[in-house]
Amino acid sequence: MKRHEQRVLAAAEAYAKQELAQEASGHDWWHVYRVDRLAERIAREENADVFICRLAALLHDLADEKLFGDEAAGLRKISEWMERHEVSPDAVRHVIEIVSTMSFKGGGRPPMRTLEGRVVQDADRLDAIGAVGIARVFAYSGAKGRLIHDPDFVPRTDMTKEQYRSADGSAVAHFYEKLLKLKDLMNTDHAKRLAEGRHETLTRYLECFYEEWEGLR
Ligand code: ADP
Ligand code: NI
Repeated sequence: MKRHEQRVLAAAEAYAKQELAQEASGHDWWHVYRVDRLAERIAREENADVFICRLAALLHDLADEKLFGDEAAGLRKISEWMERHEVSPDAVRHVIEIVSTMSFKGGGRPPMRTLEGRVVQDADRLDAIGAVGIARVFAYSGAKGRLIHDPDFVPRTDMTKEQYRSADGSAVAHFYEKLLKLKDLMNTDHAKRLAEGRHETLTRYLECFYEEWEGLR
C-alpha cells in the first residue's frame, strides 16, 4: 500500500474514533475497529483492494441518520472529508457507493456491485454474530429496556421484521429474527468460513441458555 494511502487510513481511524466517541447504539468506535480488522483480513484472502475495503469499513457508520439527522448529509460529509484528504475521485465514488448501500434502510438491502462492497458488508455482518455479536445483542436490548428472553413469545425464524418489532422482541428473539440468518447472507468464501464458526457459537450458546433457563444445567 502506498504511503499516502496509509496516511489516509490513519486519519480515517482518528476521524471515526472522534465522531463515534459518544455513540452507544451498537455502532461505537470499537464496532468500526472490528469491522476494519475483519475487512482487511477478508480483503487479503479474496484479493480485493485493501485500501478501499479499509477506508469504507472505517467510514461505514458515519453516514448513519442517527448521527447526522439525514443520510444524504452524512454521505456529503464523508465525501468532503475524503476530498480534503486527497483521495482520488474514483476511490471517493467507490467508497460512497459502498457506504450508501450498507446504510440503505428500505426493505432488504440491495446487493453489492463490487467485490470490495461485498467484503465490507460481510465484515459488518460478521460483527453481529459469534461471541461479539452475542454481547452486542444483549447490550442493544438492555439499552432499549427489553427482556433478555420471553418464553411466552416464541421466536420464529420466518417472522417478518415488522411482526418482530411490534412484539417488542427480547434479545433472544433477535437471534431468530436476524442473527441466525446472517450465515447464509455472506458474499465471500472467506466470510462464509468465518460465519460457520460464529454461527455455531450462537447455536451452542442458545442450547446452554435454554437448559440453564429450566435449571437443567
Ligand atoms: P447494522 O450494523 O447492520 O446497521 P443494526 O443497527 O440493525 O445493524 O444493529 C446493530 C447491532 O445491534 C447489531 O449487533 C444487532 O444485532 C443489534 N440489534 C439490532 N436490533 C436489535 C434488536 N431489536 N434487539 C437486540 N439487538 C439488536
Ligand atoms: Ni456497522
